[in-house]
This record gives sequence, C-alpha cells and structure tokens, in this order.
Amino acid sequence: MHAVSIENLLFSWAGQRPTLDIPGWQIKQGETVLLRGPSGSGKSTLLSLLAGINTPQSGSLNLFETAFSNLSGRQRDRYRADNIGYIFQQFNLLPYLSALDNALLACQFSKKRRQRIAEQGSSAEATATEMLQRLGLNSTQIEQPAHTLSVGQQQRVAAARALLGAPKLLIADEPTSALDAEHRDTFIQLLLELSSQNNTTVIFVTHDAALSSYFDQHVELNTLNQAGAQS
Ligand SMILES: Nc1ncnc2c1ncn2[C@@H]1O[C@H](COP(=O)(O)OP(=O)(O)O)[C@@H](O)[C@H]1O
Ligand SMILES: [Mg+2]
Repeated sequence: MHAVSIENLLFSWAGQRPTLDIPGWQIKQGETVLLRGPSGSGKSTLLSLLAGINTPQSGSLNLFETAFSNLSGRQRDRYRADNIGYIFQQFNLLPYLSALDNALLACQFSKKRRQRIAEQGSSAEATATEMLQRLGLNSTQIEQPAHTLSVGQQQRVAAARALLGAPKLLIADEPTSALDAEHRDTFIQLLLELSSQNNTTVIFVTHDAALSSYFDQHVELNTLNQAGAQS
C-alpha cells in the first residue's frame, strides 16, 4: 500500500506562479523519506499539502488510499488529528505546560489515538512518560514547563507529541537545524526507531545531506518539481 501517492499536483500561493508542479511521487507504507532542497524551493509548502493544511488547485493527493485532496476542510482536520504527527521547525510547544502535558496534547484531540494506546493495554499518560524517558528526559524534566527545557529537550517533547498514539504518517520540517551533529544523529536514530515500531511512514525535511544514510528514500525537491526546474 502507498502511504502517499501524488499525481499531476499543482499548487500556487495566491497571486504567484506555481510553487509546486509535481507529475508524480509515491511513498510506500513504512518507508522513511529524506526530502531535501534549497531554501524557498517549496519543501514546507509540500508538507502543508501532505498535512491537509492547504489543498492543491489540481491533481490528486492520496494518503493510505484516502483521496485526501477531495476531503472537506473539516474531514482533513479530523484525518490529521487521527493519523498525522507533525514536528515543526520551532516545535510549537505550549510554554507553560509540562513536557508530559505537551506530549499528551495530540491524544486529547483524537479518540483514535487514545484507542490505539488502549489496545496496547496502556494509558496515554503511561505511554507518553515511557516515550519521553526513552527520548532521554528524566522524571524531573518530564514535569517541567516546556519553556524551562533546553532546545534539544524541547525537540524530544515535540517528537513524543507527534508520535504518541501511533500516527500512520510522521512529518518533520527541519527539526534538527538547532542541534549539533552528535545530538542530531542520536535524535534521528531514536525518532526512526520509535516510528518503525508502529510502522509509521516518515517524511523528514532537511537541507543537511549528512543525514541521508538513515533514510530509505532520498528526494531532491527540484527533481520532483517541474515548477522548480523552470524557474
Ligand atoms: N504562507 C505563504 N504565503 C505566500 N507565499 C508563501 C507562503 N509560504 C511560502 N510561500 C512561498 O512559497 C515558496 C516556497 O516556500 P517554502 O515552501 O517555505 O520553501 P522551503 O520550505 O523549501 O524553504 C517561496 O517563494 C515562499 O515565498
Ligand atoms: Mg521550510
């Protein structure tokens, strides 16, 4: 089964020439993909389409055999809450909530995520705590407000939040740009290990070629994107 299948996708921001013109792209379920490209090439725009935050003007975008681009805005919001984990470049944590409560946020908006955890015989709180510990936070840090944590720790909280409740797809937009090489490698290894346990498909955006060896598929956006090739 394909996790992502794109055909003849066109997307333009209002009043601009097309940012994305992608004849075709497929990602298999469980595959890990590194998406690279220069600044301004449309990486974050493509992720916003994959997450259903924006929709293409034409063409099709299927996620796990759901015709994602045909869903209503409301249906896409529901699908995203249940099935997509998103790690933002700036993490988007709630500063005064604890690491644990930040990690639990994704589950609060999705009964499906809570059900998947219950099926494993656990609670959201126990699973989040275990995940944060595996990501290297100690029991004191887990209770601390997010704004008192280091950048590296905040990033781990963002990863736990995205992965809690076993989403089908994990999207990460340059989440390692603030980390040094050693922390970056450990983080990616853990992220991929946690993802593979749930057969989560991973799309990881970076401009850093040094990370290629961790991923199954390597994509340079400008080779997928005809709009990029023309400009
Ligand atoms: N919210 C937006 N509104 C209008 N134009 C945007 C918006 N976001 C991005 N763009 C434009 O789309 C192009 C691609 O940007 P982006 O997807 O952020 O690239 P990347 O993530 O590869 O750096 C740029 O020309 C940028 O100015
Ligand atoms: Mg970007």
